[in-house]
Amino acid sequence: MAGISDRSFRRLCRSFGADFAVSEMVSAKGLVYGDRKSRILLAPDASDKPHWVQLFGSEPEIIREAAQIAMAAGADLIDINMGCPVRKVVKTGAGAALLQEPQRAAKIMQALDRSPTVPYTIKVRTGWDHETFVLNNFIEMAAKFNAKALICHPRSAKMMFSGKADWEQLFLAAEKASLPIIGSGDITDTETAKNYLAHPALSGIMLGRGTYGRPWFFREIKELLENGKNWLPDSGLKRETIFKHGELLKEEYGEKHSLLIYRKHLAWYIKGIPGAAAFRKKIFTLTDHTAIADTVNELFHKPAINHF
Ligand SMILES: Cc1cc2nc3c(=O)[nH]c(=O)nc-3n(C[C@H](O)[C@H](O)[C@H](O)COP(=O)(O)O)c2cc1C
Repeated sequence: MAGISDRSFRRLCRSFGADFAVSEMVSAKGLVYGDRKSRILLAPDASDKPHWVQLFGSEPEIIREAAQIAMAAGADLIDINMGCPVRKVVKTGAGAALLQEPQRAAKIMQALDRSPTVPYTIKVRTGWDHETFVLNNFIEMAAKFNAKALICHPRSAKMMFSGKADWEQLFLAAEKASLPIIGSGDITDTETAKNYLAHPALSGIMLGRGTYGRPWFFREIKELLENGKNWLPDSGLKRETIFKHGELLKEEYGEKHSLLIYRKHLAWYIKGIPGAAAFRKKIFTLTDHTAIADTVNELFHKPAINHF
């Protein structure tokens, strides 16, 4: 997830049992033309085993070359973004724009298939809009060009994040698929995760927004699946995770830049607890990690923290 699944967050999610954690999307063109920021996004964390890197782009040969660069830099698996509906991406012909250009999408897959050392997956939505459902077609193409799996967020690109992900539509398509299908969309509770995982046509689920301020969501699900338990972290583990997140971000981005990112996560960590609004206001005035840590501690020592 762009802006979310950086090395720090991937490390946290892995520590709570995520089997995979995909990188933020990286520009294929950026990699090929030596852009420094793209290179930085590509770098693996020690926990990235396997290291699954997502690329976005529109030109088959550029994507093929970028995939090779990523593999040389430590990627084990490449995902191609064919689902991002954000204007900045779509207007370059990448992301969900490819849902409207199946022939170009096929050429991208074909180019990757011609690089036998590059295992790859495809991430799609169901179509550009309600009328243009292309999921089955993309599944067939991905199978034909030997993608390892296809991941689908079953909304149209036009929906952005409105309405609901249509999992029934995804199950129907997955039942006919001859490659592994992974579903993504609106999973925010453990029972739903368990139900989707139990569907015989699905090979896995991917968590997105449900992990905001909740990297332990993976463990919640695994505890239910493996031990039948409704596990939740206690406030001590939550506080420890919040601090760990701050440390990881400081390492990844440096003191100043990390604060901008940390504040966003902190707001999610404390969402819904008594005193959250005042806490959020306060942390946006603080300019160093020590002051933030003190404020987190203050919040945790209040009786209200029992609700956290
Ligand atoms: C802030 C944000 C950034 C995202 N970035 C990416 C991305 O870079 N690549 C991608 O394939 N999907 C991206 N997605 C889509 C998610 O991976 C996921 O498929 C979608 O949000 C539905 O799952 P959810 O309801 O669990 O969030 C992003 C979503 C959000 C909200």
